[in-house]
Amino acid sequence: MIILGIDTSCDDTSFAVLRNGRELLANLVSSQIDLHRVFGGVVPEIASRKHVELVDQLYREVLQNANLSGKSIQAIGVTSGPGLIGSVLMGLCFAKGLSLSLGIPIIGVNHIEAHAMSILLEYDVEFPFIALVVSGGHTIILRIDDFGLYKVLGSTRDDAAGEAFDKIAKFLGLGYPGGRIIEEMSKEGKPDHVFFPRPMIDDNNYDFSFSGLKTAMINYIKKYNVNNENISDILSSFQEAAFDVLANKTLRAAKNIGIPRIVVGGGVASNGRLRAIFHERCSKDRIDVFFSSPEFCTDNGAMVAKVAHHYYVTNKTSPIDIAGYSRMKFH
Ligand code: KG4
Ligand code: ZN
Repeated sequence: MIILGIDTSCDDTSFAVLRNGRELLANLVSSQIDLHRVFGGVVPEIASRKHVELVDQLYREVLQNANLSGKSIQAIGVTSGPGLIGSVLMGLCFAKGLSLSLGIPIIGVNHIEAHAMSILLEYDVEFPFIALVVSGGHTIILRIDDFGLYKVLGSTRDDAAGEAFDKIAKFLGLGYPGGRIIEEMSKEGKPDHVFFPRPMIDDNNYDFSFSGLKTAMINYIKKYNVNNENISDILSSFQEAAFDVLANKTLRAAKNIGIPRIVVGGGVASNGRLRAIFHERCSKDRIDVFFSSPEFCTDNGAMVAKVAHHYYVTNKTSPIDIAGYSRMKFH
């Protein structure tokens, strides 16, 4: 069974071909980072226009890499939200056209569900598990009992964690996207140089707030002299504060609910320090923790194909007039 997975939720145009729900025959991600770098962030209109230019070419390329023709595809999984609405619609419209021309069904996939389930591309994680999806657009803790059986335990009340990294990097003129740059620069730094606030860490809920941490960091930079000598220490301290809250709340959810399995997905999950903190704390608490390979943490079509495969084999395909959404609720 061959499933095509498409994700155009933000600034990556991604296509993948998955066989039998397991075997990834091809996985292509065309990043638009160079286009958006000069603006220090994603410009939605530019992103949508670039998706239009790229989709057809990437479709051909992914088939070529998989050594297949379009006729071999049985179903198309495509992100139908949440994301930048113009970008989401570009992938969705392309998928609808392809669905009509090939006479195969389309399956609209929730992007957050795809991030949470991407782990299943590489590991057989037993249900139920606690998932933390932490990216540029989302920071959310879910209890996942099966495909389609989710409960939102908490989410950010303002900025997503990755967004805070990106905004701080922009403020300091370090480049875009900020997450990977801050990770690299933090490697040289001392994480206990400054004790930044850990917003909401002791609150009796699983919500987050990263905007206050971002402001505390920006105020610190304005107040104190930041130079080449101490920048790594300051960034490393900021990173530590953000990850301390993420790990603390996710582990608390796992312990309180009594599910000793955590999955971490989304772009920020590719961060080596975040992985180390989770591994260390989970091993102390006898909790199993799973991270995908970095290429499946950031946006990709493979995770969409994985979810779509499940819905296809359980006969849950979408109507051809399925809408795209900038925000989506879990039911
Ligand atoms: O999952 P993703 O590719 O797109 C969204 O759905 O948002 O995540 C992108 C986000 C950006 O905010 C980026 O700065 C962050 O993930 N990110 C990182 C790292 N790599 C990407 N954050 C921290 N450390 C990293 N190594
Ligand atoms: Zn994403």
